[in-house]
Amino acid sequence: MHSEWIFNQIESLKIKKKINLLDFASGNGRNCIPLSKRNIIITAIDKDEEKLNKYKNINNINTICFDLETKEEWPLIREYYDVIIVVNYLFRPKIKKLTNLLKKDGFLFYETFSKGNEKYGIPKNPDFLLKDKELIDIFGEELIPLSFYDGKIKGKNISIKQMGGFKKGVFKKTPCY
Ligand SMILES: C[S@@+](CC[C@H](N)C(=O)[O-])C[C@H]1O[C@@H](n2cnc3c(N)ncnc32)[C@H](O)[C@@H]1O
Repeated sequence: MHSEWIFNQIESLKIKKKINLLDFASGNGRNCIPLSKRNIIITAIDKDEEKLNKYKNINNINTICFDLETKEEWPLIREYYDVIIVVNYLFRPKIKKLTNLLKKDGFLFYETFSKGNEKYGIPKNPDFLLKDKELIDIFGEELIPLSFYDGKIKGKNISIKQMGGFKKGVFKKTPCY
């Protein structure tokens, strides 16, 4: 089952033209496969070739098998993506670089586990759990925050997650007299 929050965010964009979407650490494709049927051109990147092989031949999906956590530069095009989604993945040392991949006026929708989740299930390792307001701290300087949630998600199991929606754009600075 796809992420409902991600789909609601994309729905809210009321997309009419073809757009480029990056599914970052796309896993088994539960999000990008259904999105590929909606006038969306997908780049799906993950290190797990076996997972990618299951959807590499689907129309509108271009899969890239790559380890996102090495010193090597990501094989992704700068300022190319209208929308980037990241679900249930966190690698702090390089995550800020996502903003370089967004087009002007592009959107980033990020959903992953946060502090407190360890009480309910995996992940429990703090490396994979966002700290308080961390998505805002990571992206809020370069992107404009649009939506933010940090708390309980009731599904089959309870989890604690942070979800942040951001837009690339120009901050309108208020003149200072
Ligand atoms: C929990 S899954 C989430 C997958 C997908 N985003 C979803 O929501 O279903 C995490 C994914 O991150 C990928 N991943 C973990 N470390 C990675 C790395 N170093 N480079 C690329 N992908 C990685 C895994 O292969 C896995 O598919």
